[in-house]
Amino acid sequence: MSRPPIQRPDLGGPFPEHLAIVMDGNGRWARRRGLPRVKGHSAGVDSVRTITTSCARMGVASLTLYAFSVENWRRPSAEVQTLMRLLRVFLWRERRTLMENGVRLRCIGRLDDLPPRALRTLRETEELTANNDGMLLRLALSYGSRSEVADALTAAARDVRAGRLDPDSVDEETLRRYLYDPETPDPDLLIRTGGELRLSNFLLWQASYAELYVTDQCWPDFREEQLLEALRDYAGRRRRYGGLLPDETDPATSPQGAS
Ligand code: FPP
Repeated sequence: MSRPPIQRPDLGGPFPEHLAIVMDGNGRWARRRGLPRVKGHSAGVDSVRTITTSCARMGVASLTLYAFSVENWRRPSAEVQTLMRLLRVFLWRERRTLMENGVRLRCIGRLDDLPPRALRTLRETEELTANNDGMLLRLALSYGSRSEVADALTAAARDVRAGRLDPDSVDEETLRRYLYDPETPDPDLLIRTGGELRLSNFLLWQASYAELYVTDQCWPDFREEQLLEALRDYAGRRRRYGGLLPDETDPATSPQGAS
């Protein structure tokens, strides 16, 4: 299937390969309009659709959306059921658009906790889109970073017991291999909508050097214009990874300065 050409906006600086988003503020968006919370989630699905398509067309390599955390199971069961239904309907309705835009779907989290019908739809969509060569859309579902690390340690401990892993050889890369999706590079930019200044147990390992961007806009109001604003902000960031950029080194101590 031929898909629309990639149109990467020129924002005057680097463009994130991997974008991760904490989609917060659906409930507040609804409350401000005198609507039940679930209406906020339905409006949030429209933002998921818009942002997924925009990112795919702009040439983002991976987009990870925090759709449901392990802690979200504590919400009233009617809200949880609505979220699961919205997820299924989204996947059904969007299959065609995902295919048209060459998007591959992958889910991360404790997926066995999901209702069977939702899990089946997810697996079917993953299979259907597996050979697409465009953007990777990762949905974090029943996801928590601490559970991910605990699950990784359980799997690694089993491998040690079975003689497949030497405990003295364990380093950061070994642990990464046991995370839910080790092949996808770490996020470059992590956006949080709804104004809260926290990570909420999302990609704690992978976001070690992600640039953070928090906007007060609630998720249902986050559309292409707001996305471009975040990307513009990222384009102006200077990423150091704990080191220094060439123009920041003291001439007397830099290799060139010393020579
Ligand atoms: C946080 O808002 C949002 C969620 C817990 C769910 C996010 C789900 C969607 C955007 C829709 C379904 C997803 C897909 C992928 C189709 P909140 O309810 O915590 O908002 P609040 O902080 O204002 O109460």
